[in-house]
Amino acid sequence: MVRKLIFGSRYFGKGRADGGPGEEEIEHADSLSTILVYVYAFCVTDYILCLRWITDFDGHEKSIRQAIFTARKHQDSLIDERIKQWKDGVRTKQDDLLDVFININNPRLNANEIKAQILDLILAAYVNVSNNIEWAMAEMMNNPKIFDKAVHELDSVVGKHRLVHESDLHHLNYIKACVKEALRLHPVAPFNLPHVTTADSTVAGYLIPKGSHVMVSRIGLSRNPEVWDDPLTFNPDHMKGDKEVVLTDHNLHTFSFSTGLRGCPGVLLGSTMTTMLLARLVQGFMWELPPNEPRVDLRENLHDLAKAKPLVALAKPRLPQHIYPTLHNA
Ligand code: HEM
Repeated sequence: MVRKLIFGSRYFGKGRADGGPGEEEIEHADSLSTILVYVYAFCVTDYILCLRWITDFDGHEKSIRQAIFTARKHQDSLIDERIKQWKDGVRTKQDDLLDVFININNPRLNANEIKAQILDLILAAYVNVSNNIEWAMAEMMNNPKIFDKAVHELDSVVGKHRLVHESDLHHLNYIKACVKEALRLHPVAPFNLPHVTTADSTVAGYLIPKGSHVMVSRIGLSRNPEVWDDPLTFNPDHMKGDKEVVLTDHNLHTFSFSTGLRGCPGVLLGSTMTTMLLARLVQGFMWELPPNEPRVDLRENLHDLAKAKPLVALAKPRLPQHIYPTLHNA
């Protein structure tokens, strides 16, 4: 989705004949995953400066440089080609975000700035949505009552004769509660991205000197038993207090999109993408686990909070056939 939004195409390089991602796309996606692992990784030499004389003590620098090189190899050539198309007058209509970046006038961005912005956006938008939906589906499949309630909401708000649209999302409070509950219980990483304080400040009576690395514990907030009843249980009713559920939480009871100046600038897009994706998966298909798996294994990875085992489930259409354009054409 992010690729389509930015570059106007679904995959880098050629997709597979069956419609799946080709080699270039897989290489690009793998490099993004590697970058994200290192963005959140603990690096000893950030804190024990006397070890810095040993070049790349942890090996992080080499890995992240290689991953950025690979990601940019695929992105930058497309960006250069597009800038040329605009210069040569071959392209005249703005169709995607890359066109918008190229045509921003105040301030005008040079090629390097556009490339850096695009990498940042792709990274920011890439993992949050997929992590959230994988966990939401996994938890819901282990809780048939919750799943049925979500299906029921979709059937009464949207019906079975068309797919859910963006304009319906406003009325899908239970689906949004499922998304937000997954954001609460399964944040994408244990901490937020590291920030550095630009001035001395005092928070809750503690002095945080200028220049400190500040990392907020997302699970410290969102699994806090003083704030949440039964915090380790997935229960969309945790969000019952919200008259209309929104995925942001400026009180930081869940970290979701963070808050303030460095909070997520993609709140609207991120909320729409996640809610829409979950709504379509729940509305469009009946889901079953593989025969030898009675329940989804909900264990987390040891090094981050992602699912240790990717979710595998079998989807069967539950709406009339003509509603699925690709299935129908096939
Ligand atoms: C469910 C989806 C999303 C969630 C939960 C989410 C969450 C967050 C959070 C918590 C941060 C702040 C991290 C920190 O500095 O502590 C952030 C930053 C950011 N997000 Fe999102 N995000 C989502 C989707 C998106 C999308 C779709 C975009 C854009 C296409 C986006 C663009 C960004 C950018 C550019 C930043 C960095 C802001 C800065 O410079 O500090 N995000 N996001």
